[in-house]
Amino acid sequence: MRTSAFLESTDLCLQAQEAVAQDEPVLLRSPVEIDLLLEFARSTAHGLRQDPPGLECRFLYDRRGCELFEEICGLDEYYLTRTERSILERHSSDIRDITGPVTLIELGSGSSVKTDLLLRAWLDRDGMVPYVPVDVSDSALRSALRSISARHDEARLVGVNSTYEEAFPLFAALSPVMVIFLGSTIGNLDREEFDRFLEDLSDGLAPGDFFLLGVDLVKDSEFIERAYNDGRGVTGDFMKNLFVRMNRELGSGVDLHGVEHEAVWNRRREQVELYARFTGPQTIHVEPLDEVITFEAGDRVLLEISRKFVLPDLERSLERFGLRSKAVYTDENDWFALLLLQKAEPGD
Ligand code: AVJ
Repeated sequence: MRTSAFLESTDLCLQAQEAVAQDEPVLLRSPVEIDLLLEFARSTAHGLRQDPPGLECRFLYDRRGCELFEEICGLDEYYLTRTERSILERHSSDIRDITGPVTLIELGSGSSVKTDLLLRAWLDRDGMVPYVPVDVSDSALRSALRSISARHDEARLVGVNSTYEEAFPLFAALSPVMVIFLGSTIGNLDREEFDRFLEDLSDGLAPGDFFLLGVDLVKDSEFIERAYNDGRGVTGDFMKNLFVRMNRELGSGVDLHGVEHEAVWNRRREQVELYARFTGPQTIHVEPLDEVITFEAGDRVLLEISRKFVLPDLERSLERFGLRSKAVYTDENDWFALLLLQKAEPGD
């Protein structure tokens, strides 16, 4: 696999245009070296001092966190993954019919069944497909590229190792495209982050380009709560792994036996809130910054939110960003939706 760094967004665009025309998988990497440890330390110290305290959920996904999340996706209670997959099984070729032979750009590197279904639909029709996964994790991206190139010899693969935002200028450079954002990952963003994300994403798209968005829908809270309070406690382990990581990387000294998982449905905000509750006092160190934050029994820290959506409302807010529904697919229970959106002409 050829790997090369890009210097700036115009350089990324040129390199990607050249790379999609080639047979060999190519990996383009951002020149912005992020000091992840320092970022983790700063974000943790800042988040723990907030009122109410909260941590950034992106830090849940270290190597062990990714493994645990994969395990969550296979749980009986976690209906999201298999429901979205069933929709893709039924509709991938309809989606290809609507979009035509566009380049696929996926935010997050899908090496899984879901991405395979889309690639298959494109390959069946066109015999080849340019596929550009974007991921901050170099290891996740490499393993996705490796497994996809083993299965789909005819796919033209270009991995982009950068943040999502750094990759937005690529959309116009590779247009016509369909940007793919699955798994209801957009539900992790609070309202302000959601607006900023969609505005920037839409700005990057050329009129006529497509955006395929997977979202979890508001439903009977019993099913939602069960998906985040599974019987085997895998979700709890996934949440607690953040403190394991803090102990390892930040010398935090969290007493892991004193951490409980709590997931509650907030009806008013239509979101699941995932908390760590401390059953006794905790003294948490952030060694790289020489900071100490203390908590008392009963205090809780917000680790993640998972918003659920109501279709007409969601379509209205997407429309505000010039993203118009071309097709909306759901499962037989209306639990999950896949929206195929198209960027409108300016002023239209
Ligand atoms: C990856 C954000 C879609 O919100 O359902 C699953 C993360 N956290 N169980 C979700 C998650 C706990 C997941 N997303």
